[in-house]
Amino acid sequence: MPPTITPWEVQGEVDYEKLIQQFGTEPITHEQLNHIAQQVGEVHYMLRRGVFFSHRDLDWLLNQYQQTGECFLYTGRAPSGNTHIGHLLPWVLTRWLQEKFNVDLWFQFPDEEKFLFKQDLSLEDTAAYTQENMLDVIALGFDPDKTHFLIDTRHAGILYKHACRVAKKITFSTAKAAFGFQDSSNIGSVFYTSMQAVPAFLPSAIAGRNIPCLIPLAIDQDPHFRVARDIYPSLGYYKPAVLHARFLPSLQGPEGKMSSSSAPDTIYTTDTQKQVEEKIKKYAYSGGRSSLQEHKEQGGNPDIDVSFQYLKMFFEPDDKKLQELEHQYRNGDLLTGELKDIAIDKINVFLQQHQKQREKARNKVEQFIYQAE
Ligand code: TRP
Repeated sequence: MPPTITPWEVQGEVDYEKLIQQFGTEPITHEQLNHIAQQVGEVHYMLRRGVFFSHRDLDWLLNQYQQTGECFLYTGRAPSGNTHIGHLLPWVLTRWLQEKFNVDLWFQFPDEEKFLFKQDLSLEDTAAYTQENMLDVIALGFDPDKTHFLIDTRHAGILYKHACRVAKKITFSTAKAAFGFQDSSNIGSVFYTSMQAVPAFLPSAIAGRNIPCLIPLAIDQDPHFRVARDIYPSLGYYKPAVLHARFLPSLQGPEGKMSSSSAPDTIYTTDTQKQVEEKIKKYAYSGGRSSLQEHKEQGGNPDIDVSFQYLKMFFEPDDKKLQELEHQYRNGDLLTGELKDIAIDKINVFLQQHQKQREKARNKVEQFIYQAE
């Protein structure tokens, strides 16, 4: 079966090269990474290692920023469950970009989205998850003075007028082609894209002048902006630039995506150290050989090993250490169990710090929520 990739469903093996063609995006080049390094002095490991692998209009954004020192970041999270470590990938890069570019971030919590798209989720449920998910975002260290949370039902008065302007420009046949809507789809879900489109120009609308926007996101979210980018100019706004991330793999396979709805496959930000250890030991897909002797002789395969991929994509920022692990695993000196122990340790160190910050975030939430002046 070919993989399914829509903003609401990711199934099967994801071929990232194919997605670039299918979605009509561009691969991120060395020149672009150098351009980023020139401007901010370094390149984040998630960019260097291809976790972010594709973009739209990155050159335009970098040139604009170079000339004017101005741009803003936009990303979001539709509350539908607890946050897992896969959700954090784009946010970690976004936090770095905020610091390095010294710019504002607009973070949308469309608390109606999963209500509209999932059978068994009430608006009360999504409101509760919004509270929880906000803690995870704050815990990553975003600047409270430069970060603005938009909650769709709460900020409807600000968002809705703009969303109507967007909606009027997008036909049902465009939405059907991009998202696969059927006659049986509810009409709220058809409108939803226009809500997600708004924060890409809201700061420009508020400022009364155009400010370039950069959207880091997981690749499954691209279709919203593929559709909306076509119509922004007709509303008088820039098309936003987009940076696309791969999915953090689920524990049980090197392909596919960590999902909120499969607890044993997934490491949540609130998991205890013991739970992380058990999940990795029991479920993390291994690139090791079936016997110790075979492993020692032939070596393991880090490319399909989920513990190694977690270290590479997220939890081991040190290139030298990562290379050393890769080398030892490939030549058979490092065993699967040992590699798992390293991953468990790194994830737990991260989560311990995250959970501390997450608790501290509880009384900071209102500071982050956008207040119209
Ligand atoms: N639709 C996203 C989700 O399902 C949430 C979201 C809203 C978002 N605005 C965004 C994601 C902008 C990336 C960029 O989680």
